[in-house]
Amino acid sequence: MAKETKDYSKYFDFSDAKIISQDEYGKKIRIRGREINIISEPNHRQEKQRGKESINVLYEDAVPDELKHLGEGKKYIVYTYGCQMNEHDTETIKGLLEQMGYSSTEDRKEADLILLNTCAIRENAEDKVFGELGHLKHLKTEKPDMLLGVCGCMSQEEGVVNRILQKHGFVDMIFGTHNIHRLPQLIKESLFSKEMVVEVWSKEGDIIENLPKKREGMRAWVNIMYGCDKFCTYCIVPFTRGKERSRRPEDVIAEVRELARQGFKEITLLGQNVNAYGKDFTDIHYGFGDLMDDVNKIDIPRIRFTTSHPRDFDDRLIEVLAKRGNLVEHIHLPVQSGNSAVLKKMSRKYTREQYLELVAKIKKAIPDVVLTTDIIVGFPGETDEQFEDTLSLVREVGFDSAYTFIYSPREGTPAAVMEDNVPMEVKKRRLQRLNDTISEYSRGGNEKLRGQIVEVLVEGESKNNDKVLAGRTRTNKLVHFTGSPELVGQFVHVKITDVMTWYIKGDLVTEPMAVESYR
Ligand code: 5AD
Ligand code: SF4
Repeated sequence: MAKETKDYSKYFDFSDAKIISQDEYGKKIRIRGREINIISEPNHRQEKQRGKESINVLYEDAVPDELKHLGEGKKYIVYTYGCQMNEHDTETIKGLLEQMGYSSTEDRKEADLILLNTCAIRENAEDKVFGELGHLKHLKTEKPDMLLGVCGCMSQEEGVVNRILQKHGFVDMIFGTHNIHRLPQLIKESLFSKEMVVEVWSKEGDIIENLPKKREGMRAWVNIMYGCDKFCTYCIVPFTRGKERSRRPEDVIAEVRELARQGFKEITLLGQNVNAYGKDFTDIHYGFGDLMDDVNKIDIPRIRFTTSHPRDFDDRLIEVLAKRGNLVEHIHLPVQSGNSAVLKKMSRKYTREQYLELVAKIKKAIPDVVLTTDIIVGFPGETDEQFEDTLSLVREVGFDSAYTFIYSPREGTPAAVMEDNVPMEVKKRRLQRLNDTISEYSRGGNEKLRGQIVEVLVEGESKNNDKVLAGRTRTNKLVHFTGSPELVGQFVHVKITDVMTWYIKGDLVTEPMAVESYR
């Protein structure tokens, strides 16, 4: 609960905001005629704290019986921005809404509820959301009874919430990443009160098991942990997602088994830093390697994970991954920079040499491994020479692909107050050179597959040509080939005939064949 009085003037002129009432359950304010019920609001200082209190695991029914029909006859849309964690949160949001009786629509004009599940990782992600809010304002004017909500990482930021209160008073609901399970109650509150309802918890709460999830397709995400304690100096995630909390292994394993039973073909285990899995258990000694060893025994064709941190990537994990089976030969291993001084300023807690040693160990254990990464260019103070170190590391490792970003200052993070002395033109040139280098290696990695037969999980028809099917190899490479739509959802063998930078083409192998990589 928000007990302290906040200095809103830090962000905006709130001189026209009136406090109507304030008690231990929050406060009601009025801004330009719009009443706002602030049950709780984000606070960066509290988000930064890492308390010792233990996390409870609750096994509850999130939608009480009296709310199970609230959405009957009504339609929803959820727009999702950002990472796979957000995509997966959206599956929970949709699961909750459908348990309340809502059904989905693609047409925003017929929606009774629109939610924006937002991302705060870089400024351009936030700009997109504010742009969308601008468009939705018109719809809200035409259809005032439609509920409009903002959730996800942006809601965890003080500045964002205040900007919405001040400039986007037509929003009906703001909630954060820690209280998604409260969505049914918040919808009820804003439907009946007609006030804007704000409930954002600064501190992570309990782990809530058994939340409904609306999954589609043949691939499923499974959370193994929440939050991040790494506090890389550029990153907002430890603030927006709270402290590291691992789900109990028996809950994760039961979920993976159930998904296997339902016929899913591929599982991606999710966490902001999966290698820290289990470090918060006080009663058992069980880490990410142990979990991977256990899911390796489950009868599901492919298991992936994301995202890993090089610092906690231990030998036990490498030993387990080398067992292969359903554990695929692809590791996403964000490096961020190839220069040790920049890594230190980023507080990544490893050096260039340590990263390269880890890569060598992984390649020794899994020679055909495909490595991908994340890289930031133009971190405050990055010199030309330091950037050259990043390029040389990319060449040395030979990443098959990379997500590359220009540094974006995030309010409240340590890097935001470092002198950002690299001109934007220089940052853009660095990004271009980096992307050119990555493309070269990506094509090179694909070239190695020419003439080989690979196992492909067929995901659907190609976006541009419905005669062409698209699927992925175990190493997550996109493959296009001609085939019948009946193959969607199945594993096939494809002989690679042509190689592009970002995908490969091949011919379906119709005869049963023994393929080395097939398990
Ligand atoms: N600016 C640019 N890129 C960032 N990332 C995280 N924070 C920032 C930031 N402030 C990138 C990192 C991370 C990926 C998910 O996003 O590369 O691994
Ligand atoms: Fe952000 Fe670093 Fe945590 Fe990744 S490990 S989420 S980059 S703080």
